[in-house]
Amino acid sequence: MDYRRTYVKDLLASQPQTGVEAFGWVKTRRDSKGVSFVQLSDGSCFNDLQIVIDAGTLPDETLKLLTTGASVRFTGDLVASPGEGQSVELKATGAEIFGASDPTTYPLQKKGATMEFLREIAHLRVRGNTFGAVFRVRAQAAYAVHKFFYERGFHWVHTPIITASDCEGAGAMFAVSTLLEAIEDHSGETPQTLWKLHNQNPKSDFFGKPAFLTVSGQLEAETLAMGLTNVYTFGPTFRAENSNTARHLSEFWMIEPEMAFCSLEGDMKLAEEFLRYVIQYLLDNSSQDLDFFNKRIEPELLSTLEHVANSSFEHLTYSEAVKHLESSGESFEFPCTWGSDLQAEHERWLTEVKVGRPVILTDYPKDIKAFYMRQNEDGKTVRAMDVLAPRIGEIIGGSQREERLDVLESRIKEMGLPIEAYWWYLDLRRFGSAPHAGFGLGFERLLMYVTGMKNIRDVIPYHRTPGNAEF
Ligand code: 4AD
Ligand code: MG
Repeated sequence: MDYRRTYVKDLLASQPQTGVEAFGWVKTRRDSKGVSFVQLSDGSCFNDLQIVIDAGTLPDETLKLLTTGASVRFTGDLVASPGEGQSVELKATGAEIFGASDPTTYPLQKKGATMEFLREIAHLRVRGNTFGAVFRVRAQAAYAVHKFFYERGFHWVHTPIITASDCEGAGAMFAVSTLLEAIEDHSGETPQTLWKLHNQNPKSDFFGKPAFLTVSGQLEAETLAMGLTNVYTFGPTFRAENSNTARHLSEFWMIEPEMAFCSLEGDMKLAEEFLRYVIQYLLDNSSQDLDFFNKRIEPELLSTLEHVANSSFEHLTYSEAVKHLESSGESFEFPCTWGSDLQAEHERWLTEVKVGRPVILTDYPKDIKAFYMRQNEDGKTVRAMDVLAPRIGEIIGGSQREERLDVLESRIKEMGLPIEAYWWYLDLRRFGSAPHAGFGLGFERLLMYVTGMKNIRDVIPYHRTPGNAEF
């Protein structure tokens, strides 16, 4: 058996012919007079291959085992299908069953299973229509990401997963330690607390200093951009915040481009081009899967995606957005005032009610943003930009970086961050500093947007969230 063979996808696209074989899992089996029909799927595409088994063709003991979930190789002839929905079907002459599946206990058989139930059997859910489509789209989107950047001269860089620096400056991080007694019950503590614990402990820890799972590869990506000019990361990141929402994961994938000799304007241009490119790529290359999402998950998905791929994003400053929100006449759960972070309800109102498409917000108050963002002349705001999308809210967060050594140093001190830990980051401003900018796209947020799936736990194979690390 070779991995190079004809997949269901290829068979469905070919002309009638004799002597073919098809591998896959039985999705359903239906018997009528003198004939059995099996829907066979191998995950290569959305559609199944219909297998027609005339009575008497297969031995009884094989037929008995052809139940939902069984894995099998069929041999037979590909013939024109009289039925609707498929142009060819396979008239079986033989079948070899690799693994039977007891229909009385196979958990995926339940009709109308909820997303919550399917999440509990995440090791099997990929065999169904919805999750087959989700993970095919995820793979296509990842390919589109790399294609987009390679076509534009960006270098993919691999930044560390274990890090000693806290990029976002305030977030709770997961500790990585071999001093189990010291960190017991302290996962999710701030770096400052762990520094204290570390200093109290006479034994030195594995890395000789407190280490964490990274919340972002940005700072390290910046060092690479200051030599390679245009780079991007694409990898997992971790956040220990106790956010149990439909759009937060403790482990998620992020794509972070970083560009030397680039301002916030160039950064926003890239962000918009990037989102529209990936969406157009999926419209062109994942149409069967997107059709399914459009029919079963999110009614206006295709028209929305086509609209986004073909129209430019709205630009607003944070201050303008706050004015619109204040005069909106809506009664929000959290009132919106200048200086406070926008809540999901505010982001949704701006994108869904006010503008009706993605919005880029810029120039946020410096106190609600990270230390590395470039300060504006007003002393109050920074060159930050967030891309907000209807249904999802924040999908991209980015900024022009502070390239002035003195301004950056005083900002780090002002925010009470351990300046010693950032020596190498400050070196970039000492030796050949240059204006530069970048952003981070949450890959799963993008996938929610393009599939219409409502919960972020359903666009990653195995979700990690507070209280959950199954599989
Ligand atoms: O806005 P964030 O925190 O920005 C950064 O990490 C910067 N270092 C990026 C940069 O400038 N290079 O995160 C970026 C994006 C968010 O816009 C969101 O899409 C996603 O990452 N994100 C999450 N996705 C899932 N679960 C979470 N807990 C997320 N937190 C952020
Ligand atoms: Mg953000």
